[in-house]
Amino acid sequence: MVASMDKRAFYRDPRVAGSYEDRRSASPAGRLAQELELAAVRRAFGPREKVVELACGTGRLMRTLLGEGWDVRGIDQSPEMLAAGGGDAGGRLLVGDVFRLPLPDRAADGLFCFRFTNHYAELGGFFRECSRVLRPGGTLVCDSMRWSPLLWDSPRLGGRNHCAADRRIAAWLEEAGFAVESVEPLFPIGPYLLGRLPLALARLLLGGRGLIPARLQAVAVWLARRR
Ligand SMILES: C[S@@+](CC[C@H](N)C(=O)[O-])C[C@H]1O[C@@H](n2cnc3c(N)ncnc32)[C@H](O)[C@@H]1O
Repeated sequence: MVASMDKRAFYRDPRVAGSYEDRRSASPAGRLAQELELAAVRRAFGPREKVVELACGTGRLMRTLLGEGWDVRGIDQSPEMLAAGGGDAGGRLLVGDVFRLPLPDRAADGLFCFRFTNHYAELGGFFRECSRVLRPGGTLVCDSMRWSPLLWDSPRLGGRNHCAADRRIAAWLEEAGFAVESVEPLFPIGPYLLGRLPLALARLLLGGRGLIPARLQAVAVWLARRR
Protein backbone atom coordinates (compact mmCIF):
# COMPACT_ATOMS: atom_id res chain seq x y z
CA MET A 1 0.00 0.00 0.00
CA VAL A 2 1.36 3.41 -0.91
CA ALA A 3 -0.38 5.62 1.58
CA SER A 4 -0.47 9.34 1.90
CA MET A 5 0.43 9.46 5.60
CA ASP A 6 0.04 13.22 5.49
CA LYS A 7 -3.63 12.85 4.67
CA ARG A 8 -4.25 10.49 7.61
CA ALA A 9 -2.52 12.81 10.04
CA PHE A 10 -4.21 15.77 8.38
CA TYR A 11 -7.67 14.42 9.15
CA ARG A 12 -6.69 13.69 12.76
CA ASP A 13 -5.99 17.37 13.33
CA PRO A 14 -8.92 18.64 15.46
CA ARG A 15 -8.88 21.98 13.58
CA VAL A 16 -9.27 20.21 10.23
CA ALA A 17 -11.96 17.88 11.59
CA GLY A 18 -13.82 20.70 13.32
CA SER A 19 -14.05 22.83 10.17
CA TYR A 20 -14.51 19.97 7.65
CA GLU A 21 -18.25 20.24 7.07
CA ASP A 22 -18.20 24.04 7.06
CA ARG A 23 -15.54 23.98 4.35
CA ARG A 24 -16.98 21.15 2.23
CA SER A 25 -20.70 20.83 2.47
CA ALA A 26 -22.25 23.80 4.29
CA SER A 27 -22.45 26.17 1.30
CA PRO A 28 -25.45 25.91 -1.05
CA ALA A 29 -23.21 24.48 -3.80
CA GLY A 30 -21.63 22.08 -1.28
CA ARG A 31 -25.08 20.85 -0.27
CA LEU A 32 -25.97 20.34 -3.93
CA ALA A 33 -22.82 18.21 -4.40
CA GLN A 34 -23.75 16.21 -1.29
CA GLU A 35 -27.25 15.58 -2.66
CA LEU A 36 -25.73 14.10 -5.84
CA GLU A 37 -23.55 11.76 -3.77
CA LEU A 38 -26.55 10.69 -1.70
CA ALA A 39 -28.56 10.12 -4.88
CA ALA A 40 -25.87 7.71 -6.14
CA VAL A 41 -26.08 5.77 -2.85
CA ARG A 42 -29.88 5.72 -2.84
CA ARG A 43 -29.92 4.39 -6.43
CA ALA A 44 -27.72 1.46 -5.40
CA PHE A 45 -29.14 0.41 -2.03
CA GLY A 46 -32.29 0.34 0.01
CA PRO A 47 -32.93 1.04 3.69
CA ARG A 48 -33.31 -2.68 4.49
CA GLU A 49 -29.77 -3.60 3.40
CA LYS A 50 -26.79 -3.70 5.76
CA VAL A 51 -24.64 -0.91 4.36
CA VAL A 52 -21.30 0.49 5.54
CA GLU A 53 -19.78 3.84 4.60
CA LEU A 54 -15.98 3.54 4.38
CA ALA A 55 -13.72 6.48 5.30
CA CYS A 56 -16.93 8.20 6.33
CA GLY A 57 -15.19 11.22 7.91
CA THR A 58 -17.73 13.18 9.93
CA GLY A 59 -20.42 10.82 8.65
CA ARG A 60 -22.13 13.59 6.67
CA LEU A 61 -23.61 11.00 4.25
CA MET A 62 -24.31 8.05 6.56
CA ARG A 63 -25.91 10.25 9.22
CA THR A 64 -28.42 11.52 6.65
CA LEU A 65 -29.32 7.93 5.71
CA LEU A 66 -29.45 6.87 9.36
CA GLY A 67 -31.98 9.65 9.90
CA GLU A 68 -34.09 8.07 7.13
CA GLY A 69 -34.09 4.70 8.92
CA TRP A 70 -31.26 3.01 7.00
CA ASP A 71 -29.24 0.14 8.52
CA VAL A 72 -25.95 1.94 7.96
CA ARG A 73 -22.61 2.09 9.79
CA GLY A 74 -19.53 4.23 9.26
CA ILE A 75 -15.80 3.55 9.57
CA ASP A 76 -12.97 6.08 9.58
CA GLN A 77 -9.39 6.16 10.84
CA SER A 78 -9.85 9.57 12.48
CA PRO A 79 -11.66 9.70 15.83
CA GLU A 80 -11.57 13.49 15.47
CA MET A 81 -13.53 13.39 12.20
CA LEU A 82 -16.07 10.95 13.65
CA ALA A 83 -16.52 13.16 16.73
CA ALA A 84 -16.83 16.33 14.65
CA GLY A 85 -20.01 14.99 13.04
CA GLY A 86 -21.64 15.14 16.48
CA GLY A 87 -22.56 12.14 18.64
CA ASP A 88 -21.70 8.50 18.12
CA ALA A 89 -24.64 7.83 15.80
CA GLY A 90 -26.13 5.23 18.15
CA GLY A 91 -22.95 3.14 18.27
CA ARG A 92 -22.82 2.89 14.48
CA LEU A 93 -19.38 4.46 14.05
CA LEU A 94 -16.12 2.52 14.16
CA VAL A 95 -12.55 3.76 14.23
CA GLY A 96 -10.62 1.67 11.75
CA ASP A 97 -8.37 1.50 8.72
CA VAL A 98 -10.17 0.67 5.51
CA PHE A 99 -7.13 -1.29 4.30
CA ARG A 100 -7.76 -3.65 7.29
CA LEU A 101 -11.46 -3.38 7.91
CA PRO A 102 -12.68 -4.25 11.43
CA LEU A 103 -15.49 -6.40 9.96
CA PRO A 104 -15.90 -10.15 9.44
CA ASP A 105 -15.98 -11.72 5.98
CA ARG A 106 -19.25 -11.21 4.04
CA ALA A 107 -20.66 -8.94 6.75
CA ALA A 108 -22.19 -6.30 4.46
CA ASP A 109 -24.76 -6.15 1.66
CA GLY A 110 -23.34 -2.87 0.45
CA LEU A 111 -20.42 -0.47 0.83
CA PHE A 112 -20.04 3.11 -0.24
CA CYS A 113 -17.15 5.50 -0.14
CA PHE A 114 -16.70 9.08 -1.35
CA ARG A 115 -13.80 11.57 -1.40
CA PHE A 116 -11.31 8.91 -0.26
CA THR A 117 -9.72 7.09 -3.22
CA ASN A 118 -7.88 10.28 -4.27
CA HIS A 119 -5.78 10.01 -1.08
CA TYR A 120 -3.90 6.90 -2.22
CA ALA A 121 -1.74 6.02 -5.20
CA GLU A 122 -2.35 2.29 -4.72
CA LEU A 123 -5.87 0.99 -4.10
CA GLY A 124 -5.57 -2.75 -4.74
CA GLY A 125 -5.52 -3.57 -1.01
CA PHE A 126 -8.53 -1.34 -0.37
CA PHE A 127 -10.65 -3.01 -3.03
CA ARG A 128 -9.58 -6.49 -1.81
CA GLU A 129 -10.81 -5.57 1.68
CA CYS A 130 -14.09 -4.34 0.18
CA SER A 131 -14.45 -7.69 -1.59
CA ARG A 132 -13.72 -9.64 1.62
CA VAL A 133 -16.39 -7.92 3.72
CA LEU A 134 -19.12 -7.90 1.05
CA ARG A 135 -21.42 -10.87 0.57
CA PRO A 136 -21.34 -12.40 -2.93
CA GLY A 137 -23.63 -10.27 -5.08
CA GLY A 138 -23.13 -7.29 -2.74
CA THR A 139 -22.52 -3.83 -4.17
CA LEU A 140 -19.76 -1.26 -3.86
CA VAL A 141 -20.37 2.38 -4.79
CA CYS A 142 -17.36 4.67 -4.77
CA ASP A 143 -15.97 7.67 -6.55
CA SER A 144 -12.62 8.23 -8.26
CA MET A 145 -10.74 11.33 -9.31
CA ARG A 146 -9.59 11.48 -12.91
CA TRP A 147 -7.86 14.85 -12.78
CA SER A 148 -7.16 17.55 -10.23
CA PRO A 149 -5.22 20.80 -10.10
CA LEU A 150 -3.90 19.76 -6.64
CA LEU A 151 -0.89 17.67 -7.61
CA TRP A 152 1.65 19.05 -5.15
CA ASP A 153 2.05 18.32 -1.44
CA SER A 154 0.08 21.20 -0.02
CA PRO A 155 0.31 21.15 3.81
CA ARG A 156 -2.73 23.43 4.02
CA LEU A 157 -4.88 20.99 2.03
CA GLY A 158 -3.28 17.89 3.54
CA GLY A 159 -1.13 16.75 0.63
CA ARG A 160 -1.73 16.06 -3.01
CA ASN A 161 -4.53 14.33 -4.84
CA HIS A 162 -3.82 10.97 -6.47
CA CYS A 163 -5.70 10.76 -9.73
CA ALA A 164 -6.44 7.42 -11.40
CA ALA A 165 -7.41 6.58 -14.96
CA ASP A 166 -10.65 4.59 -15.30
CA ARG A 167 -8.74 1.57 -16.64
CA ARG A 168 -6.62 1.49 -13.45
CA ILE A 169 -9.68 1.55 -11.16
CA ALA A 170 -11.39 -1.08 -13.35
CA ALA A 171 -8.31 -3.34 -13.15
CA TRP A 172 -8.13 -3.05 -9.34
CA LEU A 173 -11.83 -3.85 -9.07
CA GLU A 174 -11.63 -6.85 -11.41
CA GLU A 175 -8.57 -8.23 -9.60
CA ALA A 176 -10.39 -7.88 -6.27
CA GLY A 177 -13.32 -9.98 -7.55
CA PHE A 178 -15.76 -7.29 -8.68
CA ALA A 179 -17.72 -6.97 -11.91
CA VAL A 180 -18.01 -3.31 -12.89
CA GLU A 181 -21.65 -2.52 -13.66
CA SER A 182 -21.35 1.18 -14.36
CA VAL A 183 -19.03 4.16 -14.30
CA GLU A 184 -20.62 7.56 -14.70
CA PRO A 185 -19.57 11.19 -14.37
CA LEU A 186 -20.40 12.62 -10.95
CA PHE A 187 -18.75 16.07 -10.91
CA PRO A 188 -17.13 17.98 -13.78
CA ILE A 189 -14.65 19.54 -11.30
CA GLY A 190 -13.55 18.32 -7.87
CA PRO A 191 -16.19 18.60 -5.12
CA TYR A 192 -14.04 20.91 -2.99
CA LEU A 193 -13.89 23.49 -5.80
CA LEU A 194 -17.50 22.86 -6.78
CA GLY A 195 -18.66 23.59 -3.23
CA ARG A 196 -16.92 26.97 -3.28
CA LEU A 197 -18.74 28.21 -6.39
CA PRO A 198 -21.79 30.46 -6.26
CA LEU A 199 -24.87 28.24 -6.40
CA ALA A 200 -25.99 29.52 -9.81
CA LEU A 201 -22.61 28.67 -11.35
CA ALA A 202 -22.50 25.23 -9.70
CA ARG A 203 -26.01 24.54 -11.04
CA LEU A 204 -24.97 25.64 -14.52
CA LEU A 205 -21.91 23.41 -14.46
CA LEU A 206 -23.82 20.42 -13.12
CA GLY A 207 -26.73 21.03 -15.49
CA GLY A 208 -24.28 21.02 -18.41
CA ARG A 209 -22.65 17.74 -17.42
CA GLY A 210 -24.34 15.95 -20.30
CA LEU A 211 -22.53 18.22 -22.76
CA ILE A 212 -19.05 17.56 -21.36
CA PRO A 213 -17.43 14.31 -22.53
CA ALA A 214 -17.55 11.85 -19.63
CA ARG A 215 -13.79 11.19 -19.68
CA LEU A 216 -13.07 14.93 -19.13
CA GLN A 217 -15.13 15.12 -15.96
CA ALA A 218 -13.02 15.17 -12.81
CA VAL A 219 -14.97 12.75 -10.63
CA ALA A 220 -16.58 9.47 -11.64
CA VAL A 221 -18.89 7.24 -9.62
CA TRP A 222 -18.50 3.46 -9.86
CA LEU A 223 -20.99 0.71 -9.16
CA ALA A 224 -19.38 -2.73 -8.89
CA ARG A 225 -20.89 -6.08 -7.93
CA ARG A 226 -18.97 -8.64 -5.85
CA ARG A 227 -18.83 -11.88 -7.88
C1 LIG B 1 -11.86 14.04 2.40
S1 LIG B 1 -12.33 13.11 3.82
C2 LIG B 1 -13.83 12.35 3.22
C3 LIG B 1 -14.76 11.98 4.31
C4 LIG B 1 -16.13 11.47 3.84
N1 LIG B 1 -15.97 10.29 3.04
C5 LIG B 1 -16.84 12.55 3.07
O1 LIG B 1 -17.16 12.31 1.89
O2 LIG B 1 -17.10 13.61 3.63
C6 LIG B 1 -11.24 11.73 3.78
C7 LIG B 1 -11.42 10.78 4.95
O3 LIG B 1 -10.69 9.58 4.71
C8 LIG B 1 -10.22 9.13 5.95
N2 LIG B 1 -9.13 8.16 5.72
C9 LIG B 1 -7.97 8.36 5.07
N3 LIG B 1 -7.25 7.22 5.03
C10 LIG B 1 -7.98 6.28 5.68
C11 LIG B 1 -7.77 4.90 5.98
N4 LIG B 1 -6.68 4.26 5.56
N5 LIG B 1 -8.73 4.24 6.68
C12 LIG B 1 -9.86 4.88 7.09
N6 LIG B 1 -10.11 6.18 6.84
C13 LIG B 1 -9.18 6.87 6.12
C14 LIG B 1 -9.78 10.39 6.66
O4 LIG B 1 -9.67 10.20 8.06
C15 LIG B 1 -10.91 11.34 6.28
O5 LIG B 1 -11.96 11.31 7.23
